[in-house]
Amino acid sequence: MNPHSFFVAGTDTGVGKTHVTALLLTEFRRRGLRAGAMKPIACGSGGRCDAEQYAALMNHEQPLDVLNPIYLRHPLAPLVAAKLERRRMDLHRVFANYHLLATNYQPLLVEGAGGLLVPIRRNYSVADLARALNLPLIIVARLGLGTINHTLLTVRQAQAMGLKIAGIILNDITGSQRGLAEKTNIKAVPELCGVPLLGVVPHGNGTAAARQICRLLLR
Ligand SMILES: Nc1ncnc2c1ncn2[C@@H]1O[C@H](COP(=O)(O)OP(=O)(O)OP(=O)(O)O)[C@@H](O)[C@H]1O
Ligand SMILES: [Mg+2]
Repeated sequence: MNPHSFFVAGTDTGVGKTHVTALLLTEFRRRGLRAGAMKPIACGSGGRCDAEQYAALMNHEQPLDVLNPIYLRHPLAPLVAAKLERRRMDLHRVFANYHLLATNYQPLLVEGAGGLLVPIRRNYSVADLARALNLPLIIVARLGLGTINHTLLTVRQAQAMGLKIAGIILNDITGSQRGLAEKTNIKAVPELCGVPLLGVVPHGNGTAAARQICRLLLR
């Protein structure tokens, strides 16, 4: 187990995994750490943007193909996209690139694709990839109505597969006025999941939240 590298898992696609990863990467590097991030599998036209963002934050020290070894054109689950494109994904490249990066960057943040049970191959999901990399999860969830269910489903699945969980980050993706769900999530989600809340990332500038989260992750 590498305690200073993490697998950034989402409760869904579009919940803010890249946004949060970029914030943490920026904060780790501001602290003088040689931090890095990768997106092993990206799908869809916007998919490679995630790794492009990480490459820029890492001063383009690594080529995009190292940070993102597998890129599929369709915005679909990797298994489905690969079938459509008649491609077989070479997961060896994912592991080789991960090991290359993990020896050069600490902490290394590995962004998943969609949620935990998104299929990469038949009978091989994003959660299997996290387990193969032996990394603790940072679970990113939307702040708002529905999040207790999504987060609990993710936590229960991770625990059933023996994955470690570093904590949960609630991300305010909409920035709309906080109602009762948003306010009560902050106490209810960690309590019901039995997993620590690392922080709440506000809409817009998340620098202060990232500082607090990085402090907790480095403890
Ligand atoms: N806290 C936030 N404040 C402002 N904008 C945000 C915030 N979180 C996410 N966003 C925006 O919401 C969109 C989706 O977020 P993001 O791309 O990080 O999700 P993701 O979980 O990485 O998605 P994917 O599954 O496609 O990789 C992006 O345009 C991002 O900039
Ligand atoms: Mg992303």
